[in-house]
Amino acid sequence: MFNDFKNTFDFYIRSCTKFSRKNYQGKIKTAESDYVFDILTKYFKIEFQENTSVLDIGSKNWAYVRGEYNFFNQSCNRLLLDGVEIDAYRLYSNLYSRYEVAKFYIKELAGVNYYPDDLLNIKTKYDYIIWLLPFVSIYPLKKWGLPEKYFMPEKLLLHAYSLLNKKMLIINQGEDEAEIQKSLLDKAEINYTFLGEIISDKSIFKNKRYGYLVAR
Ligand SMILES: C[S@@+](CC[C@H](N)C(=O)[O-])C[C@H]1O[C@@H](n2cnc3c(N)ncnc32)[C@H](O)[C@@H]1O
Repeated sequence: MFNDFKNTFDFYIRSCTKFSRKNYQGKIKTAESDYVFDILTKYFKIEFQENTSVLDIGSKNWAYVRGEYNFFNQSCNRLLLDGVEIDAYRLYSNLYSRYEVAKFYIKELAGVNYYPDDLLNIKTKYDYIIWLLPFVSIYPLKKWGLPEKYFMPEKLLLHAYSLLNKKMLIINQGEDEAEIQKSLLDKAEINYTFLGEIISDKSIFKNKRYGYLVAR
């Protein structure tokens, strides 16, 4: 209870003040992007089309944006790639926010936008949706520092599905979360293919990951 009060208060303060050092300039780290490019190549088959729109949900600082950008850009002439992150103003110890770091990662990528917003406020439809590690149980959300009121996996899943034109990839961490994801999909009566364990020699993560493909 006290922790939720603390998370709610901190979240409110950072969302209102949007405090951050500006113009983050760092060294581009490629490990997350290489992983994302690899898993998309293996598990997310798409066909060439003139215009493609993609939504990444819960983009954090979007250090992996180039993996998505390079993957989708090779199969279209015009790419719109949007990322949405509800907690974009969380600060790193160097006093740059996720938002500032994300701005650095998307710099010079044409057609890429990062929205510091709640997924529920997104109303545009997208051809493809990528959702890496949604919060399907409350403990990781609380540890992440979000107020409990933002724990609404069913509502978020239904909303994401309502925005989907073609295909969505959901990746979960660990067997337990993958099981919960399955129940959420079943309960929402959304058709899916379970991809099993996501194998990548580019993985930098200690926990196993599992995937679901949702197609319209
Ligand atoms: C476990 S993290 C995964 C981050 C990133 N996708 C990755 O793979 O590294 C989940 C992210 O979803 C964000 N998130 C949670 N609820 C959200 C919502 N309603 N709208 C947008 N982002 C949300 C969190 O703030 C967090 O950054």
